[in-house]
Amino acid sequence: MASDRIYMDHASSTPVDPLVLEAMLPYFNEVYGNASNIHSFGRGSREGIEKARKQVADLIGAEPEEIIFTSGGTESDNMAIKGYLNGSRKNGTHIMTSSIEHPAVLRTFQHLEKTGFEVTYVPVDEEGIVKIDEYTDSFRDNTSLVSIIFGNNEIGVVQDIKELARIAHEKGAILHTDAVQAYGKIPIDVKEMGIDLLSLSGHKIYAPKGIGALYIRKGLRISRINHGGSHERGLRSGTENVPAIVGLGKAAEVCGQRMEEDTAREMKMRDHMINEIMAKIPETYLNGHRTKRLPNNVNVRFSHIEGEAILLNLDYHGIAVTTGSACSSASLDPSHVMLAIGLKAEEAHGSMRLTLGRQTTDAEVEKVLEVLPGVIEKLRKMSPLG
Ligand SMILES: Cc1ncc(COP(=O)(O)O)c(C=O)c1O
Repeated sequence: MASDRIYMDHASSTPVDPLVLEAMLPYFNEVYGNASNIHSFGRGSREGIEKARKQVADLIGAEPEEIIFTSGGTESDNMAIKGYLNGSRKNGTHIMTSSIEHPAVLRTFQHLEKTGFEVTYVPVDEEGIVKIDEYTDSFRDNTSLVSIIFGNNEIGVVQDIKELARIAHEKGAILHTDAVQAYGKIPIDVKEMGIDLLSLSGHKIYAPKGIGALYIRKGLRISRINHGGSHERGLRSGTENVPAIVGLGKAAEVCGQRMEEDTAREMKMRDHMINEIMAKIPETYLNGHRTKRLPNNVNVRFSHIEGEAILLNLDYHGIAVTTGSACSSASLDPSHVMLAIGLKAEEAHGSMRLTLGRQTTDAEVEKVLEVLPGVIEKLRKMSPLG
């Protein structure tokens, strides 16, 4: 569909890549057998699933048998954390996470806290980097699991997961990372980085919504959180969503092929946007680390105005941005991520996130840079906060 609307919200979701769609289509009405059946119809679906498992694993240096398909990032996060702790409560009831997690991890920890786990929420500095000394000092004799977000969905900050995993292991704990925003965008090698559990999601990487995966290091025991027909090595019962799994596999393969080119292009556009916005609009600040950030993330805040008003005004111009994460933007509470980097509530509310993608063009970037200063100026003139 031709459109002159501009989509700058790829961290919320992405369009399905044409190659992904093409790979999926036969699995709706040509290869439709239940993959649990051993007749030829079932075997066709099974082959599709196992090929996808290898494609998803290859992108992070994992073995295919270390990948379990799920319904997305949220389920992978829940399965990793609850599944590991159910399986090994004896290992210790102290668990740690960061103060800038996605709700899929944050709320899981809050739930576990209510059920008797002791939780440490490790702070981050004003650029969003986990405070390594406090992290190291927070481990106890009974710390069993740490969960740290790889690339933050709001401010784009990328953590040194290799170092965080090294410390966790030294202290006798394991590390889970929510890599939903990082998988397919930056190089990840689970073996080299020492990652024990990793969550990923399809709809952030040009595969459909409602499909994801969990990497579980070989030898690590996690217990099932749902029961049924013992699909996915008994860890995730339920007939597999074969077309979506095939799509996730293809999307992973395409990300691998395009990563270098896409990253370089998006980083160039990202840096150009950050520099231009800061140069053209006074009293503008960058949220999140300048360089340790996802290649496609721009997050800036403007004094004296509300992000919500910017969003609506840009939408009027056909430009889609967000004020925080898609999941929390329905709420009026300031984002916990913005508060964690030390912003006051009114500063947090003045933030705007633009996330670039494969289809983003230089012309679109220039159009946003042309429209934005006028929108901010107009809103500041009207603002009672100024
Ligand atoms: C960092 C992060 N984790 C988890 C999720 C949830 O993934 P899904 O939408 O596939 O459940 C998201 C989606 O916004 C995310 O950005």
